[in-house]
Amino acid sequence: MAQQNDILIRNVRLASMQDNGKPYGLIENASVAISGSKIVGIFGENDTLPEGYDVIDGQGQCLLPGFIDCHTHLVYGGDRATEFEQRLLGQSYADIAKQGGGIRSTVSATRAASTQELLQSALSRARRLAAEGVTTIEVKSGYGLDFDTEIRMLQVAKQLEQHLDVDIMTTYLGAHAVPVEYAQRADDYIQYVCETVMPEIARLGLADAVDVFCESIGFSLEQCTKVFNAAALHGLRVKAHVEQLSDQKGAKLAAQFNALSVDHIEYMAAEDVACLKQSGTVAVMLPGAFYFLNESQLPPIAALRQHGVPMAVATDLNPGSSPLSSILTAMNMACVLFKLTPEEAIRGTTIHAARALGLAECKGKIAVGFDADLCLWNINHPVELVYGINQHRPLKKWYKGRLSTL
Ligand code: NIG
Ligand code: FE
Repeated sequence: MAQQNDILIRNVRLASMQDNGKPYGLIENASVAISGSKIVGIFGENDTLPEGYDVIDGQGQCLLPGFIDCHTHLVYGGDRATEFEQRLLGQSYADIAKQGGGIRSTVSATRAASTQELLQSALSRARRLAAEGVTTIEVKSGYGLDFDTEIRMLQVAKQLEQHLDVDIMTTYLGAHAVPVEYAQRADDYIQYVCETVMPEIARLGLADAVDVFCESIGFSLEQCTKVFNAAALHGLRVKAHVEQLSDQKGAKLAAQFNALSVDHIEYMAAEDVACLKQSGTVAVMLPGAFYFLNESQLPPIAALRQHGVPMAVATDLNPGSSPLSSILTAMNMACVLFKLTPEEAIRGTTIHAARALGLAECKGKIAVGFDADLCLWNINHPVELVYGINQHRPLKKWYKGRLSTL
């Protein structure tokens, strides 16, 4: 029996993302029943519809799960516009980082920013994502690096939930860069990450996962192993920035720790891909960073498909390598630059993005028992969302069963 304010969205073309043998898990002339925050029924055109619901006529438009941006760094101070100019004058991203710029310049600006400033700027970035139908955002720390600022970043990320209709998943990325106070002492910094900062973050429940930057300009396999072991000790799942600029075999290491996801992976060798299938790890494509850094090495897409590794797509929204606050543009880029199909791109920001955050049982799919995070789009077919660039905004959005203001 329907409760008061339970709703039935009728007459929609449902891109359910279920594995029902149809592209996008399409169900035509469908209706979706919502009770409280959950989807409680899905009906095809020949089914008898339940009574007692407030009925919303979808007028034949497409209903999709709310999008999930499973990789962002959207809490930060300052910007890196000057470095953009430097790169255009011929310097590389890695060179700028080695000279103390790059991530470390954002660390200085983030440390200097007040919590209120961090919240306001993060809010405007998250609002742009939400306006495109994003209902879940992962946010990493990693621009504070010291105890206080890392904790402040994660708190600010969590506070976004009080201002916007989004779920925030937080990730502790202490091993993002070596801060100046630990210059030439990366091992000591990793010890600080594992023994001082991470235990407190775990105790306060401030992070859902732990991430690392495994790279020649980041941290070694040995250092990342220490971080992953510490995460396991605190019951936190791991994710990893790997193989972005070179093949360090970080993805294989992450898979050994049953990582939720390996992210970037442009330089991952095709023969290493099988290990991701075994560990159930999602491969997260970040075409915004590939585009913005003007890279040419493509991720091993064919091998990922061949092994059936789920591929997610995310913005990587950050000031240095991907100042991109548009999930729809990231999906378009994934198709144009990485040759994902539009269906792969949409599964990549719904069902597979949910898996990359450990949310495969409750988000990213329109199915009974899943969260009622839904968007109604004024389109005939889901491919239109990926095809257009800055062309679409949802007509209506529901977040946990509640109609959200757009
Ligand atoms: O995902 N690769 C490391 N981290 C970020 C970039 C951070 C930055 O340049 O500020 C990324 O690309
Ligand atoms: Fe990143």
